[in-house]
Amino acid sequence: MESRESINKDIDLIFKPNLARIERILPQMEGHRLFQLRFVDEDAVNAFAHKPGQFIELTVFGVGEAPISISSPPSRPGIIEICVRKAGSVTGALFELQKGDHVGLRGPFGHGFPLETLKGKDLLLVAGGLGMAPLRSLFQAVLDDRKNYGDIVLMYGARNPDDVLFKYELLGLMNRTDLKYLLSVDVDDEGIWRQYVGVVTGLFKGVQLNSENTFCALCGPPIMYRFVIEELLKRDIPKEQVFVSLERMMKCGVGKCGHCAIGEYYCCTDGPVFRYSDISHIKEAI
Ligand SMILES: Cc1cc2nc3c(=O)[nH]c(=O)nc-3n(C[C@H](O)[C@H](O)[C@H](O)COP(=O)(O)OP(=O)(O)OC[C@H]3O[C@@H](n4cnc5c(N)ncnc54)[C@H](O)[C@@H]3O)c2cc1C
Ligand code: FES
Repeated sequence: MESRESINKDIDLIFKPNLARIERILPQMEGHRLFQLRFVDEDAVNAFAHKPGQFIELTVFGVGEAPISISSPPSRPGIIEICVRKAGSVTGALFELQKGDHVGLRGPFGHGFPLETLKGKDLLLVAGGLGMAPLRSLFQAVLDDRKNYGDIVLMYGARNPDDVLFKYELLGLMNRTDLKYLLSVDVDDEGIWRQYVGVVTGLFKGVQLNSENTFCALCGPPIMYRFVIEELLKRDIPKEQVFVSLERMMKCGVGKCGHCAIGEYYCCTDGPVFRYSDISHIKEAI
């Protein structure tokens, strides 16, 4: 039988947040901010290792916890970046904090995108809305290790020109010759948008995909998944080569409470990144 001491140690590892300092706050579009965090304890800085697509449980002390994706890549250790939308109590309280204030972090948790599987492949990365927050971790990781991947296409669909996350950082990618970056907005009431106007699937028109070698990573709202996956299947991309990041209401983040069930899976421990072939039989998955 496990000793009380070892059970307590496990509980500490899983449930006890590590103190982190807010190093910088970078405003994004209305109601969204990028927070740069660093653990106070240098051992925690050195021990932290994540995969793109994984999340942390963020504590705002005295308020509570919320699961938030890591937006920075493993290839840039030290600072953990999270991009947060002000949604409710925890994120609202986070927006009241300043540079130098402290938060708690548990994690990283869940399965991320399998970088080892993606190596050497052509990649199609598709983000919609706030889905760009976790996908940024993946595309920065891939760009930091560019020589180990084939062709890369990044598609991002936002609601309107004011709602493009990481706007200036992403527009900078348009000058790169080793990457195809396609950006769409659903509507452009003011007629100021110089890229594609329409839903993100419209971006597929100008893109050739090699179905044998192209692996896809999708992050966005369920409606986007339905149409993007339809497009991929039409182009004979096997379901096994498609990875989707799913979001569910979470409490513990570590497979203990059952809040995040998707069919036979828990989103927190079996996901949030799933191979589409593993979940395509579950009707409510997307
Ligand atoms: C794996 C994962 C990664 C996430 N990554 C990010 C991220 O990078 N940035 C970010 O801003 N948010 C992210 N979220 C969403 C974030 O955790 C929720 O918005 C969370 O509720 C915020 O906590 P809160 O206390 O501020 O809001 P709350 O007071 O909990 O609630 C705000 C509102 O959002 C609703 N809600 C709560 N959780 C969800 C959910 N999962 N899906 C839909 N509606 C929900 C509630 O019902 C309520 O109406 C992520 C969620 C998951 C599960
Ligand atoms: S959040 Fe508790 S089991 Fe997934």
